[in-house]
Amino acid sequence: MMEQESKIKISLSILAADFSCLLAEVRKVEGEAELLHFDIMDGHFVPNISFGAGVIKELKGKVNLLFDVHLMVDHPEELVDVFSQAGADFLVAHLETVNHLDRLVTRMKEKGVKAGVAMNPTTPLCFLDCILPRLEMVLLMTVNPGFGGQDFLYNVLPKIAELRKVAKKVNPELDIAVDGGITEKTAPEVVRAGANVLIVGNSVFASPDPARTIRRLKRSCQ
Ligand code: DX5
Ligand code: ZN
Repeated sequence: MMEQESKIKISLSILAADFSCLLAEVRKVEGEAELLHFDIMDGHFVPNISFGAGVIKELKGKVNLLFDVHLMVDHPEELVDVFSQAGADFLVAHLETVNHLDRLVTRMKEKGVKAGVAMNPTTPLCFLDCILPRLEMVLLMTVNPGFGGQDFLYNVLPKIAELRKVAKKVNPELDIAVDGGITEKTAPEVVRAGANVLIVGNSVFASPDPARTIRRLKRSCQ
């Protein structure tokens, strides 16, 4: 078994859930996952608008999962306070949107949340060199951000492997999350490359038995 397989964590993207009964949707799968993934989209950084901190606030305390908040927005530094207060455990900002990354990470830590950076498929890893030891999570997009249900981009696989190689030296506890197109077919490949957090939306919520699908996903990585 690969080193990371024993500690694979599933982060469920609610973007693919039925919003008319969100709490019930999450409760169906709560026991099988480790994190709940919130995609915050502003219609500027990505061509789509999703939801805001109110949804996080409503679910906080009702669901026994860590809250992983993916900020797909311009000026994420302006939202650290509101999302940490709403109940984020991880705040993950897109590198492409940040002018002062060190300041942003410091602010996240001051607010008591775990600090994460997300990267689009074509953004090079070298931009993380100086900050990697201070991060709790790096989220590698395996689709172009903005929509659920897209096809996995296989050309990101070497980037996952490279990040795990560097992280082993400078930040062995780093969570490497992959986001987009994760299925029973692609999950084993990302885990083999070095990812340990699988963000999944459609493959779980659009399946007839979401809890069973998560168990199958985890098994597929063994
Ligand atoms: C895409 C989002 C993802 C999305 C993943 O921009 O960041 O979190 O919900 O959905 P699936 O698993 O359907 O690709
Ligand atoms: Zn996401």
